Amino acid sequence: SDFDLIVRGGTLATASETFAADIGVRNGCIAALGTNLGTAVRVIDAEGLFVLPGGVDAHCHVEQESSTRIWTADDFYSGSVSAAFGGTTTFLPFAAQHRGQSLRDVVKDAQERCGPKAVIDYAFHLIISDPTAQILGQELPALIQDGYTSFKVYMTYDQLKIDDRQILDVLCVARDYGATTMIHAENNDVIGWISERLLDRGYGAPKYHAVSHPRIAESEATSRAIQLARLVDSKLLIVHVSAPEAAEAILAARNMGLKIYGETCPQYLFLTAEDLDRDGMEGAKFCCSPPPRDAAGQEAIWRGLKNDTFQVFSSDHAPYRMDETGKLKHGAGATFKQIANGVPGLELRLALLFSEGVGKGRLTLNEFVALTAANPAKIYGLHPRKGSLAVGADADLALWDPKWQRTVTYDMLHDNAGYTPYEGMTITGWPRFVISRGRVVVEDEALQVERGSGSYLQRKPEIVADGLREPELDPARNFGAGLL
Ligand code: URP
Ligand code: ZN
Ligand code: ZN
Ligand code: ZN
Repeated sequence: SDFDLIVRGGTLATASETFAADIGVRNGCIAALGTNLGTAVRVIDAEGLFVLPGGVDAHCHVEQESSTRIWTADDFYSGSVSAAFGGTTTFLPFAAQHRGQSLRDVVKDAQERCGPKAVIDYAFHLIISDPTAQILGQELPALIQDGYTSFKVYMTYDQLKIDDRQILDVLCVARDYGATTMIHAENNDVIGWISERLLDRGYGAPKYHAVSHPRIAESEATSRAIQLARLVDSKLLIVHVSAPEAAEAILAARNMGLKIYGETCPQYLFLTAEDLDRDGMEGAKFCCSPPPRDAAGQEAIWRGLKNDTFQVFSSDHAPYRMDETGKLKHGAGATFKQIANGVPGLELRLALLFSEGVGKGRLTLNEFVALTAANPAKIYGLHPRKGSLAVGADADLALWDPKWQRTVTYDMLHDNAGYTPYEGMTITGWPRFVISRGRVVVEDEALQVERGSGSYLQRKPEIVADGLREPELDPARNFGAGLL
C-alpha cells in the first residue's frame, strides 16, 4: 500500500490554519496531506474530530528528586503514559543538578532512566543550581553543543537559588552558545521574611503558603530577571507566571522588542489561593510556587494567553502524593514551609485549556495549538519536527473529539499523584486517538505501546553570530549595545 496509516476526514488545525485534509503517514512521518491519498495498512476515520499536532509539554517534573530529597510520584513511564492519554506526544522533563553534582552525570542519569520507560518522545532541560567556573566554562558549553539547549535557573528555594551575578553568568553562556534560559522568578528574601513572621505567630496551615508568596515577590523578581537579560542581551523565558504584575512586565518587555518569553500553566487559570484553605491538610494538594492567585488574577492570565504575553502553556506537572512519600513527609502537622511544592497536570493540560479556552470562546483553535504545541516546539528547538502538520514532520497527532464530555475524577487519569486538583470539573473535548511517530499510542481509552518505545529528541543550538564565542575578548559586546 501507499502508506502505513491514513487519517481520513478530519479537520486539521495548526498554529495558523484550519483546513480539511487527509494525512498519509509513512515511516513515522507525515508523507502527504490532501485527499484521495491512496491505500494504507490502516485507515483511521477522523470524521467529526480535530486533527491536531500532538501536544508538547515543555515543563514537567518527572522522576526527579526535589531539592529537599523527595522524589516525584511519577517515573518516566507513568509520567509519559499520563501525558499520552492527555494528547501530549512530546515532553521535556528536567535533568536537575543538586549542588556539587556534575551536569554531565545528571544528564547521563536522566537519559538512563528515561530511555527504557518513556512511551512518547522526549528531551531534557537542565536545572543549574551550581554554576561553578568549571560548569560555566566547560561542561555547559559542551552540553549545549551536544543538544541540551535549554536550562532552568531559580531565584528562590535555598538549595537551588543562584544570585544575580550567577544569573548573568548563565545568561551569557546561553547567549554565546545558542541556548535558552528559563527562570523561576520569585524573590527568595521576601518569601523567607514573610514566612518567618507567619511561623513565629503560629500560622503554619497550607493557606499561608500563598500569603508567604505574594504577587510582589513574583513581579519584583520577574522585572529584575528581565533587566538582567536585557543587560547582557540574552533570551529569557519566565516560567509558570501567576501574578498579573509579572505578566505586565513580560508584555512591556516584549513590546520593547526584548527577547523575553512567558509561560503559564493550568493552575493559574483554574485554581485560586482559596483552594489552599480547604479543610485539614487538603490545602496541601494545591501548594505550588508561585501559588494560585484570585479570580481577577485568573482573568489576567487568560488575557495574557490572548495578547502574546505567554507563548507557552505547560503543565509544570510536579506530582507529590498526599502521604509520607510526598506532600506529608513531615506528617499531618507539617507547616506550609515543609509541604512539597507542586501540582499534577500533565494529563489534563490540553483538555482543560481546550474546554475552557476554545470551548468557551476565549481562544481560537489555532491559538490553542500555538500555545500547547507549536510555540514550545519552536522555542525549544523541536520545530518543525514537532508542533506542526507539515509534510516531513513526525506524525504526532491528537485526534480530538470536541463533543466528548467527561467529569474529571482521579481514577480516570494515569499519573501516580493519587489526586487531581481538578476533581469534579466537567470538561468537553478529549483525544480519541493519540499517535506518536505514526504509532497509535492511545486508542479506545487504552495504551497500545510498550514501555520505552518513545525516542530521545536530539536538538541543536541556535546559530550565534561569529565572534561571540569568546566574549572576554570583546568586553563591550558582553553588555547589550546602548546600555552602557
Ligand atoms: O511548585 C512548583 N511549581 N514546584 C515545581 C518546581 C518548580 O519550581 O517548578
Ligand atoms: Zn540527588
Ligand atoms: Zn519553578
Ligand atoms: Zn516546575
